[in-house]
Amino acid sequence: MISYKELGLSNTKELFQKAVKGGYAIPAYNFNNMEQMQAIIQACVETKSPVILQVSSGARKYANSTLLRYMAQGAVQYAKELGYAIPIVLHLDHGDTFELCKDCIDNGFSSVMIDGSHHSYEENIALTKKVVEYAHAHDVSVEGELGVLAGVEDEVSSAVSHYTKPEEVEDFVKKTGVDSLAISIGTSHGANKFKPEQCTRNTEGILVPPPLRFDILEEIEKRIPGFPIVLHGSSSVPQDQVKVINQYGGKMVDAIGIPEDELRKAAKSAVCKINIDSDGRLAMTAAIREVFATKPSEFDPRKYLGPARDALKDLYKKKNINVLGSANQA
Ligand code: G3H
Ligand code: 13P
Ligand code: ZN
Repeated sequence: MISYKELGLSNTKELFQKAVKGGYAIPAYNFNNMEQMQAIIQACVETKSPVILQVSSGARKYANSTLLRYMAQGAVQYAKELGYAIPIVLHLDHGDTFELCKDCIDNGFSSVMIDGSHHSYEENIALTKKVVEYAHAHDVSVEGELGVLAGVEDEVSSAVSHYTKPEEVEDFVKKTGVDSLAISIGTSHGANKFKPEQCTRNTEGILVPPPLRFDILEEIEKRIPGFPIVLHGSSSVPQDQVKVINQYGGKMVDAIGIPEDELRKAAKSAVCKINIDSDGRLAMTAAIREVFATKPSEFDPRKYLGPARDALKDLYKKKNINVLGSANQA
């Protein structure tokens, strides 16, 4: 048994309380490799932001879970070396079984998500409660989910979204004992969150997606005041990045994300954790494609992974400062 406390990591308890009170959200950035982890830590140290390092089961398969945990342990030391010991959470993203959550808790994770949203309401409660009992015995935080996001949720996919039913949240939180709740109010995973026909065009001809269901969020907040809420699928899919990718041989069609002003508005509410993965993928891909296209004789991976890392760091710094409001909160 490796406790996250021995590794210098934090659980989410205090961080979420402060974020809800302070009207900001803590970034939850996914990572699969060293460059992503370096970019996240550099950006969060430079902006003095707490951070949640997020590991999906796909990431565990890709990179090896032991290596990822050592990387997170290294991140604690790395932040200190960079000059500021920010709080770092190591979180399992979209855990789908008790066994997976337990394995993470036993191996240094300070927070886990149990995503029972694809089960029946009763089964979701039973599974989530079981994870909470084990996690809380080790002072590990648990995120549950009610409502289904459209798109692909790691290994569980859903073609349509089912918004969270506000009338269920109080009962769910009480019966499971979760520390935070992921909800569905119109966000979805990936880079194609909306179809162009769902959007309108603004005066500059830019596609504007339908707004998030803030009415559902407000109703949820009324029923569980001050309870930490999580937004998945919160990439904004910056069009300048999409353009660079397509300019240098990529093919991203109808890539549309969540406008940043909507996320800023959400961050000011009880939403205290915002999950971003796809935007990082876009930034890295754009930077790498540009190097490959403009410097075709380069073959040193550092010459394209380095610019990708810099682009990622720049993106995360801007998110922390302008969107999440987490800068200077560490
Ligand atoms: O919600 C899913 C995250 O973006 C992780 O994606 O399963 O491809 O690692 P992944
Ligand atoms: P995006 O695909 O919008 O980045 O969402 C990531 C996410 O929710 C990870 O759990
Ligand atoms: Zn997610």
